[in-house]
Amino acid sequence: MLSKTIQEAINKQIKVEADSSQIYLAMASWAEVQGFEGISAFMYKQSDEERMHMLKLVKYANQRGGEAEIPAVIHPVLDCSSFKALFTQLYEHEVMVSTSINELVHVSLEERDYATHNFLQWYVSEQIEEEATARTILDKINLIGDDKGGLYLFDNDMKSFSGNGNGAQ
Ligand code: FEO
Repeated sequence: MLSKTIQEAINKQIKVEADSSQIYLAMASWAEVQGFEGISAFMYKQSDEERMHMLKLVKYANQRGGEAEIPAVIHPVLDCSSFKALFTQLYEHEVMVSTSINELVHVSLEERDYATHNFLQWYVSEQIEEEATARTILDKINLIGDDKGGLYLFDNDMKSFSGNGNGAQ
């Protein structure tokens, strides 16, 4: 049985993951409209992954005798002035998600809920990977700058990132 404190903390994380899914969906749609197929496919996949992160928490809370709270859908407000701006937001968002996961891990220890602590280790590993991927992409974008040819090649690169399962999860 989950304590009230853990239940509330998990529900907070459910919202973080749901918001992430919406934010990446907005990024995917924007990139698609701009004609960047690879970036768009990567972002759509990211959005699906975030929904999976959310669902995993929902099911966990319910299985442990809690009750997941399903949050309202947000309308993401993004700075789409450049790819650099876009991917900076992606990176900063992942850093925020990591902080949020760490906070949840901390609460699980405070509550002596070792099952939840164990369950959350998957998210801890996942965030290391997600941050690293976002950082790699941002580094590449910083190298390319506004160079159209570079962006074209980068978009092509992103097709393999989103297609072979080696991208951010
Ligand atoms: Fe579910 Fe990208 O963190």
